[in-house]
Amino acid sequence: MFNLENKIALVTGSARGIGKEIAAFLAAQGTKVIINDINETLLQETAKEIGAARAIRADVTNQDEVNAMVDTIINEFNRIDLLINNAGIIGLNKFEDITLNEWNKMLNVHLNGTFLCSQAVIGPMKTQKSGKIINISSNWGQRGASEAVHYSAVKAGIIGFTKALAREVAEDGILVNSVAPGPIETEMIAEEAKLLGVTEESVRLNLIETIPTGRLGQTIEIAGAVAYLASDLGDFYCGQVIAPNGGEVI
Ligand SMILES: NC(=O)c1ccc[n+]([C@@H]2O[C@H](COP(=O)([O-])OP(=O)(O)OC[C@H]3O[C@@H](n4cnc5c(N)ncnc54)[C@H](O)[C@@H]3O)[C@@H](O)[C@H]2O)c1
Repeated sequence: MFNLENKIALVTGSARGIGKEIAAFLAAQGTKVIINDINETLLQETAKEIGAARAIRADVTNQDEVNAMVDTIINEFNRIDLLINNAGIIGLNKFEDITLNEWNKMLNVHLNGTFLCSQAVIGPMKTQKSGKIINISSNWGQRGASEAVHYSAVKAGIIGFTKALAREVAEDGILVNSVAPGPIETEMIAEEAKLLGVTEESVRLNLIETIPTGRLGQTIEIAGAVAYLASDLGDFYCGQVIAPNGGEVI
């Protein structure tokens, strides 16, 4: 039942980090993976490295670009089985210092991006009477993180989005679920260190303090959870949040 061969999957924000690992893992199972990112150079490098079926540069906040990306996939592959809404940005700032611009950007990438990509695939998935949408949330969306009110708010929003859409489209054969990772070893650690003006090691130590298992997660552990949901083994999950987080939220 763990068969992902020849499925057609779009993974957003997959030039690096968790998205790249998800795309590579699916590609290794024989899935035809379309990778996407705004970073064109890195996207092309990653496509070659992981054997992606196609790489499409698109900004997930831009409706025309998102619709054109999905049209290209449908024209070329005739269907879309999996959408992994993974593209994201990090932001850290004291609540009173978060500018409206930062707030809007956070909402735009995470919530508008997830909304636009999901809306673009829902028509083809309804026609197929099958499809899966997996949204990458975060443990911070479950428990809230200080100095990350905007990030926590959108990640909680993604969980609400997942639950509501799951109820609406289950009767069309479409399953919508979320994976909410705990702190994972990716380039985001370096970005957090830069934003806070501290070393990467101190960011790691600070994150590990609240993780019972005493370590950061690895990208492969998130890719595994996504692949599980994406496979037939995940067919009874509907509107759920799977949380590989080392016990950070229990
Ligand atoms: N790293 C963690 O500890 C962690 C924990 C929980 C959740 N997450 C979530 O996992 C996802 C991936 O995180 P990551 O650590 O791999 O981050 P990352 O920064 O390494 O990768 C994110 C990718 O998204 C791309 N991207 C950003 N804006 C985009 C846009 N508008 N359109 C298309 N692509 C865009 C970036 O170019 C980048 O390649 C994010 O949604 C993040 O919030 C990460």
